[in-house]
Amino acid sequence: MLNDIAAKVLPMEERFKKWKKPAIKDGKPTKWNWIVRHPDGLVLGKKTDIGAFTYINAAYGVEIGNDVQIGSHCSIYSISTIDDKKGKVVLKKNCRIGSHSVIMPGVTIGENSVIGAFSFVNKDVPPGCVAFGIPAKVKGKR
Ligand SMILES: CC(C)(COP(=O)(O)OP(=O)(O)OC[C@H]1O[C@@H](n2cnc3c(N)ncnc32)[C@H](O)[C@@H]1OP(=O)(O)O)[C@@H](O)C(=O)NCCC(=O)NCCS
Repeated sequence: MLNDIAAKVLPMEERFKKWKKPAIKDGKPTKWNWIVRHPDGLVLGKKTDIGAFTYINAAYGVEIGNDVQIGSHCSIYSISTIDDKKGKVVLKKNCRIGSHSVIMPGVTIGENSVIGAFSFVNKDVPPGCVAFGIPAKVKGKR
């Protein structure tokens, strides 16, 4: 039974062969059930994979590079009204953001870096690193 299900999960290369940018309407769930406010501020790379219930506020710009993977239930904020912070968020090529993470305004996550699940990222993360925690700290290299 489980083998049957696993057989239906395509390997990464196969999954993204037919990748197409989904339609994105302000504040409405995409086909994959993630939501963008101010989509004019979003630059979305190719073969990106964004999990369900992720929320992106692109009012001050969010740039997501090619091959970036974002887990479900993440929040990507270019504006945070609670603490009055604003700034473009940049997720560089092939970085990965674990589920339930929060990316704060002005943060850049470097190419190929991985952010662990349930992280609060309020500072830049250099390329090629593994970082996690609240606040997220670099814990290793990839
Ligand atoms: C960060 C991550 C990539 C590290 O994976 P890994 O290299 O296999 O690390 P390990 O599981 O060996 O954990 C190493 C240590 O870090 C801790 N750790 C791992 N991930 C953590 C996280 N997100 N937050 C806090 N601590 C974490 C582990 O408990 C372990 O601690 P210990 O040494 O005291 O036992 C992974 O744990 C993670 O969070 N992946 C995201 C998964 C996800 O969100 N998937 C869904 C989207 S598809």
